[in-house]
Amino acid sequence: MSIHISAKPGDIADKILLPGDPLRAKFIAENFLEDAVCFNEVRNMFGYTGTYKGQRVSVMGTGMGLPSISIYANELITQYGVKKLIRVGTAGSLNKDVHVRELVLAQAAATNSNIIRNDWPGFDFPQIADFELLDKAYHIAKGMGLTTHVGNVLSSDVFYSKHGQTHLELGKMNVYAVEMEAAALYYLAAQHGVQALGIMTISDSLVNPEEDTTAEERQNTFTDMMKVGLETLID
Ligand code: HPA
Repeated sequence: MSIHISAKPGDIADKILLPGDPLRAKFIAENFLEDAVCFNEVRNMFGYTGTYKGQRVSVMGTGMGLPSISIYANELITQYGVKKLIRVGTAGSLNKDVHVRELVLAQAAATNSNIIRNDWPGFDFPQIADFELLDKAYHIAKGMGLTTHVGNVLSSDVFYSKHGQTHLELGKMNVYAVEMEAAALYYLAAQHGVQALGIMTISDSLVNPEEDTTAEERQNTFTDMMKVGLETLID
């Protein structure tokens, strides 16, 4: 096992879907995977491996924020040999044309976090999605009739930020949404030569705060996002 994951070598597939919420990982395992077996309960960060359309796939929670996803993605890649990682999560819209329930595929992720800056003083190392996964996810989402935006997101270290106005300025420059994990995942993928993508459902809007969703609508859009993620992961 690694420090934060109790799986044995071989327990985890080389393709993984990464929701932030471990209970959502359980939901995906129970509703989309066949023969799912739990491989991690450390810190209740549940992880499962099963099959989707006959192919071996894993799903595991990452927790919230760049440091948390960095720990899990690092161990998944370096200790368990995971090669394709797709984050499925929520994000707040920063752009007037991006509405709740719509999908954002994070082509790139700006960040206010120091975790990349600390490694590259004097550089702005760009955090980008794997193009093959991005292109595939886009066509799958479009094929499912989902309104899908492809572009920049902001991966913020802070949920309750004092810099909401700056975030909205970025939104005017088509940084579509704010979330808290994609940049760290993309950075790890770049470091280790593996493929990563972030797929986000818009759960709230900082531009149009009156936009709201019912619990049922949220569940349906999350389910659509999980399908896009799983269909993109498999060969
Ligand atoms: N900010 C940061 N992360 C988020 C948000 C938000 O408004 N909504 C969903 N994830």
